Amino acid sequence: MANVAVIGAQWGDEGKGKVVDWLASRADIVVRFQGGHNAGHTLVVGDQTYKLSLLPSGLVRGKLGIIGNGVVIDPEALLAEIDRVGRQGLHVTPETLRIAENAILILPLHGAIDRAREAARGAAKIGTTGRGIGPAYEDKVARRAIRVCDLAEPETLADKLDELLRHHNTLLKGLGADTFGKQALLDRLLELAPLVLPFAEPVWERLDEARRAGKRILFEGAQAVMLDVDHGTYPFVTSSNTVAATAAAGSGVGPGAVGFVLGIAKAYCTRVGSGPFPTELHDATGALLGDRGHEFGTVTGRRRRCGWFDAALVRQAVKVGGIQGLALTKLDVLDGLPELRVCVGYRIGGETLRHLPAAMRAQAAAEPVFETMEGWSESTRGARSWADLPAQAIKYVRRIEELVEAPVTLLSTSPERDDTILVKDPFED
Ligand code: GDP
Ligand code: IMO
Ligand code: MG
Repeated sequence: MANVAVIGAQWGDEGKGKVVDWLASRADIVVRFQGGHNAGHTLVVGDQTYKLSLLPSGLVRGKLGIIGNGVVIDPEALLAEIDRVGRQGLHVTPETLRIAENAILILPLHGAIDRAREAARGAAKIGTTGRGIGPAYEDKVARRAIRVCDLAEPETLADKLDELLRHHNTLLKGLGADTFGKQALLDRLLELAPLVLPFAEPVWERLDEARRAGKRILFEGAQAVMLDVDHGTYPFVTSSNTVAATAAAGSGVGPGAVGFVLGIAKAYCTRVGSGPFPTELHDATGALLGDRGHEFGTVTGRRRRCGWFDAALVRQAVKVGGIQGLALTKLDVLDGLPELRVCVGYRIGGETLRHLPAAMRAQAAAEPVFETMEGWSESTRGARSWADLPAQAIKYVRRIEELVEAPVTLLSTSPERDDTILVKDPFED
């Protein structure tokens, strides 16, 4: 028995939702362990398309979903999403979804601070989703955050709001933004309490029981290694650790429970926000990848920046993220391109490096060193077996395996759930 953790190996939107949905058929429980409603995971099942931000993707398969303590939860966004998927026929109840009682809440003031700070940064903006993710994690570390369990204690809520408002209203004023009043926030939290609390419990206990009963747990990462607050392209990152090690701390299990680490990477590369992107294409090929890959942010609606596959970057993600196998997605988007490029390192100043250095200016100056490969003219879209792939596409996949130093264990060839090639079942590792 092995559990599996799915994490992004680039800058997000690699197709984690599709892969988690597909793997969920082999799992009993699906757990989100970091991030919040900055994530946007799209699942295509027949004629239904589900866009999930906070809910674990396994719910669509009828599996138990858990939101771990490492997630930051906007209760308004949570209830709106439950309502939205309910209208699509997916009924989420306290029987199908459990939420860690010690998870952190995102309040409206977090989004306000996030957006006001981004506006103040001007051209140097991070390009956040504006959903208050960073400010909520800051409050957690500063030990003033409101947690799910606090909804059951009106006095605790009132006390914490005093401290929160002292801090945030000062900041908001300084940024020239509107401040918040205590009573309205408290009243709303008390209204939300009976709607949210039925989902809350010590999820670590349930996960422990599940493990002892031999159940399979699938940990669903959000964002990606290059957006990790420690290992990513800082400061153009999100505010949580996205590496697989976080699955343990973010859900309340030991590191040994995480199991096989599956990294998800597109067969090319995209990025939503600001920050370095060495293989970015500003030409017709970049536009073609964007059009063919429907590269528009689920959360932001912004057009994603597109570029060639960066093997040096994914190799780095493999190492720091603990990735043992790679799921390569969107291979079909490359169909018909006469020539493909893969980045194998960077030229910075006079030096050639195999990794992206940590310093901001060095990252911005990194020039990709490319290897060129022949493309394929056949269609791979919808391929469900290795035998359906053209020889040149197999060659491309094999070269990626060599360069990133991890085997490809899964291939995805369309948005549709079943258009997936399993090379090796990660649960059987
Ligand atoms: P996530 O954030 O990692 O879950 O990824 P998103 O859902 O934000 O973005 C991935 C997009 O690519 C979604 O629209 C998926 O439906 C789509 N997608 C996933 N796998 C494939 C694939 O193999 N081929 C194509 N063409 N689209 C895919
Ligand atoms: P999924 O799970 C792509 C990016 C934002 C911004 C940076 C910080 O769908 O892959 P934040 O709001 O988190 O403080 O923004 O991180 N970002 C994502 N980019 N996919 C995501 O999630 C992202 N979540 C955050 O665009 O650059
Ligand atoms: Mg996404």
